[in-house]
Amino acid sequence: MHHPQEPPSGIHPLLAGRFSPYRFDPSTVVDDHALGLLLEAVRWAPSAGNSQPWGFFTSRPGELEHDRVLPHLAPSSARWATDASLLVVTLTRRHVDDTQLLYSEFADYDLGQAIAHMTVQAQAMGLAAHQFRAFDLEGLTKELDPNPGWAIVSMVAVGKAVGGAPEGRARHSVAHLRSAPWSPVE
Ligand SMILES: Cc1cc2nc3c(=O)[nH]c(=O)nc-3n(C[C@H](O)[C@H](O)[C@H](O)COP(=O)(O)O)c2cc1C
Repeated sequence: MHHPQEPPSGIHPLLAGRFSPYRFDPSTVVDDHALGLLLEAVRWAPSAGNSQPWGFFTSRPGELEHDRVLPHLAPSSARWATDASLLVVTLTRRHVDDTQLLYSEFADYDLGQAIAHMTVQAQAMGLAAHQFRAFDLEGLTKELDPNPGWAIVSMVAVGKAVGGAPEGRARHSVAHLRSAPWSPVE
């Protein structure tokens, strides 16, 4: 993998400045208006056949919902996600309504794209998002008990980042992205 690099000039500042923080300011509040905007950003994301196969459970410190989610964080994510101003549990619906299809191959793809939109919207609002899978999926699914067809996929911690991007963020090169899926020419 290519080692520490900065995004080049020409990349939009909202993308170049984005990173997943490991420290959040616990005094920051994501109010209802801000939460609404983050969810609007999701709402307007594209999806296969406009299926919008996503759903969310949101919780903020002080809300009863927060107490339902916190116990299911893994120790690794609890260290920083507890201080976030908003925790979003993301769910996908892989079942396709009104068709013979039992499974949408694009449901998780669409959810990921929707969360990318939320992440950029957060960045534009002076917030930062850290997506994570370090939680007890089984325990959280039991706790939230989503309807049949819905599956929890990930969580997103949103808040004001403390400090800058972690050191040593590495990325594959652009050349790698274009060559990796194929065997080298003999
Ligand atoms: C689906 C998904 C799951 C992730 N799970 C975790 C996680 O469990 N713990 C963690 O610290 N970061 C997690 N991350 C964050 C990635 O490690 C991070 O995005 C990656 O290292 C690149 O760093 P950057 O976001 O700062 O550019 C996850 C990100 C995604 C998109």
